[in-house]
Amino acid sequence: MPIKTKVDSIINSLGSISIQDFVELSNFDSEGFYNSNEESKISTKGHFITSPEITPLFGYSLCNQFIREFHDKDVHLIELGPGNGTLMSDIYKYLESKDNNISQVSLLEKSTYFREKLKKKFSFNINFLNHLSEINLKNNEVLFVYSNEFFDSISSKQYIFKNNNFYEIKITKKNNTYELIYEESLLSDYLKKFYSEYIFEDNDILEHSNLLINYLEDLKSILKGNFFFSATDYGYQKLPKKSTLRLISNHQKIKLFDKFENIDYSFGVNFNLIENTFKKFNPILISQKELITKYLPNNFQQSRQNETEKAIDIISGKIFSDMGDSFNNISFFYNEKNL
Ligand SMILES: C[S@@+](CC[C@H](N)C(=O)[O-])C[C@H]1O[C@@H](n2cnc3c(N)ncnc32)[C@H](O)[C@@H]1O
Repeated sequence: MPIKTKVDSIINSLGSISIQDFVELSNFDSEGFYNSNEESKISTKGHFITSPEITPLFGYSLCNQFIREFHDKDVHLIELGPGNGTLMSDIYKYLESKDNNISQVSLLEKSTYFREKLKKKFSFNINFLNHLSEINLKNNEVLFVYSNEFFDSISSKQYIFKNNNFYEIKITKKNNTYELIYEESLLSDYLKKFYSEYIFEDNDILEHSNLLINYLEDLKSILKGNFFFSATDYGYQKLPKKSTLRLISNHQKIKLFDKFENIDYSFGVNFNLIENTFKKFNPILISQKELITKYLPNNFQQSRQNETEKAIDIISGKIFSDMGDSFNNISFFYNEKNL
């Protein structure tokens, strides 16, 4: 059944649908973007492109970031939202080439389409996790948790500030036209407290994702022993107070309700929330440009071959239209040896 029909039937029975449910349905319903059988979603032929799909140097840079802190341990790799598995493949090969022993590979991937693709792609054993708590950690392992454009695909609720209250923005349909409505929210006081360091004015938009907060808490519960965490995403440190919802189809930005099928929906990531959740590990936030400049393997830094040129394109953000500058990397780790 088309996504549009499903959205309509929810609106018919409930009167409206929240932005978060709408995006979750559009991305992850059985016929949603990430589960559809369309072959090349994330590629130049598909709907959008990501750094690992452009160059393996992105993955090598993440490996160097990891290797600077850990080099003589068994490595348990865990990728959040691996998609095609290109980054996993690059990281696995690079770490092995640097004599690291990969003891286990775990993947958190919600899309059944990508899970099937990943099963076929890799010859080594993979632990597919439905939930982070399912991870099986061994004593001697260091956990290397990484992701690219994972957190931006976690959906969020949107609220509008009016007359000193937050109202939830929802989608409804009137006279056959979709429109946004504002509904009173029981969370209004909670949100004012949660974001009390900010001053909001009428018509400011707030994005708040309980799903993201739950994922961060799940992560906290597995980051107990030696670990290195590195996530790259597009987002912000200070609330932009406007909608960051982005719809991409066939490499073009489109507007909400222009169409309903084959669209990737994403939100800017609140890096400040991640920093605060893990502040005891002193997270480091750098731009994607700094990540590659600082951690690109030396031999590639010196050459200007094809792959290096591609990496430089990522650095300058040309490939990501207007978003290149908003790509950031957050990393932190715990190494008991440093005690
Ligand atoms: C924008 S794609 C990025 C894919 C890949 N990391 C890359 O850089 O090409 C987001 C990926 O995260 C997965 N994903 C999104 N939300 C998820 C969730 N809540 N749990 C597990 N996987 C999720 C999607 O299925 C998809 O594979």
